[in-house]
Amino acid sequence: MSSNAGRRAVFLDEMGVGPLWTRRDAHVARVEDTAASADTNSPDTGTAADQPRIASTTAMPATVDMDDLPWTDVQLDGPPKAPSAPEVAQMNWIQLKASVAGCVKCDLCQGRTHTVFGVGDEKAKWLFIGEGPGRNEDLQGEPFVGQAGKLLDNMLRAIGLQRGQNAYIANIVKCRPTDASGKDRPPTAQETEVCLPYLERQIALIQPTVLVALGKTAALTLLGLDPDTPVSRLRGKVHRYADRPLIVTYHPAYLLRNMPDKRKAWEDLSLAMQIYAGAD
Ligand code: URA
Repeated sequence: MSSNAGRRAVFLDEMGVGPLWTRRDAHVARVEDTAASADTNSPDTGTAADQPRIASTTAMPATVDMDDLPWTDVQLDGPPKAPSAPEVAQMNWIQLKASVAGCVKCDLCQGRTHTVFGVGDEKAKWLFIGEGPGRNEDLQGEPFVGQAGKLLDNMLRAIGLQRGQNAYIANIVKCRPTDASGKDRPPTAQETEVCLPYLERQIALIQPTVLVALGKTAALTLLGLDPDTPVSRLRGKVHRYADRPLIVTYHPAYLLRNMPDKRKAWEDLSLAMQIYAGAD
């Protein structure tokens, strides 16, 4: 077996696809059961009424020195003023984390339990970008902690990475978007627009070699494309964002529901690895 084929087998195995000769119908049914019961993007068991509809009061981590915050010197009275995009673009990690934790730039702050800043190696060469927190992420304050997160961890492992080691995981928006009945929904254009400066600053601070957009919201937001553009049209190409190569692949939650496409996700990660290997 070639090393590429070997890696592919490991990947497919990690993602629960192997062995390759398994009857697909039986296998799909098994994975769909799992996805339906535990997928972070599937309808919630909790309701909006279960969730406190108040803004988080844990705005400042204990380690933040107020003098580090760029807007404290100009804000003498009233509630803290939200930093502008140019101000965000100058922040260090501490300022950025504090700013996200206290963000009130859009209505998503009203329903959140926690902001979900991102997690991983702040010097990572790989940056994986998802859509936004779901229910579990909102409760725990960390991205991709449900079943989709387990699959993402397996995908990382298959290419020799893990959370916190040469990989960083972030989202397009930092607060959980929900619909009127308390279920997860994609962020609106206005929500992504006001939140994007935070991700842009994360990219500037991390300086990753390769960006991987996980799913439609991440890909279309970063590439500024029409909402009707299918992910399938964006795969297999090297795009650019923030002057860095960007590979588009399927969202892990989608892969949980569409198991045969895991092979395509492996092709996408293989392309990303080629780009990474060829980068300076
Ligand atoms: N889906 C995402 O896109 N991001 C998360 O953090 C969790 C689920």
